[in-house]
Amino acid sequence: MKKFLSHNNEIILRKACAEDAINLNNFFKSVSLETSHFGLEPDEVTFTNKQQELIINKFSQADNALLLIATLNNKIIGALSFGVGPSKKFQHVGEFGVDVLKDYWNLGVATELIKLLINWAKENKSIYKLNLRVRSDNENALHLYKKLGFKEEGILKNEMMCNGVLYDLINMRLMVN
Ligand SMILES: CC(C)(COP(=O)(O)OP(=O)(O)OC[C@H]1O[C@@H](n2cnc3c(N)ncnc32)[C@H](O)[C@@H]1OP(=O)(O)O)[C@@H](O)C(=O)NCCC(=O)NCCS
Repeated sequence: MKKFLSHNNEIILRKACAEDAINLNNFFKSVSLETSHFGLEPDEVTFTNKQQELIINKFSQADNALLLIATLNNKIIGALSFGVGPSKKFQHVGEFGVDVLKDYWNLGVATELIKLLINWAKENKSIYKLNLRVRSDNENALHLYKKLGFKEEGILKNEMMCNGVLYDLINMRLMVN
């Protein structure tokens, strides 16, 4: 667990546990409604609380996956998930996603969540590379990842379609070991 203070808010970062399932489902629902940068449409955020609990348990039992949350006054305001590839040849590389509720943007929540991921990955000697994909018009996310040392690796043309509009995604990576 890690705490940090931003604009007089005490924000707690920790691994998600089964008791967070309901709040995490509500968090993802809110994020999907607030921004089109989230990977799912609101009607695709359909995990039941029981399913979310099982997902959280899977993350906590794996030593090469991580599900972190950021809370403020016990409310989940940010989350980061990381997992490696399914087969042996890709278990040294993983992809993560990070999201923060709009009311709490620019408080440093995503920065602190990603720093925790990087430190965890460095200590976990089996992980060599952190990947992510970001929409090319997501300026604050691009700024955030570059600030933390992520480099662009390539462009996936027209990879995402939102409301009939096609967007490029940028692959980014950070070598950690
Ligand atoms: C992208 C996202 C995760 C960032 O979370 P956050 O907690 O606000 O991020 P932080 O506060 O740690 O950092 C944001 C940085 O972007 C900067 N920023 C804000 N608006 C910006 C803009 N329009 N252009 C460039 N930089 C911008 C901030 O100044 C800050 O940088 P700094 O620390 O150097 O001052 C959040 O905006 C979000 O959840 N967006 C919707 C979902 C999403 O896009 N997820 C990522 C998908 S790849």
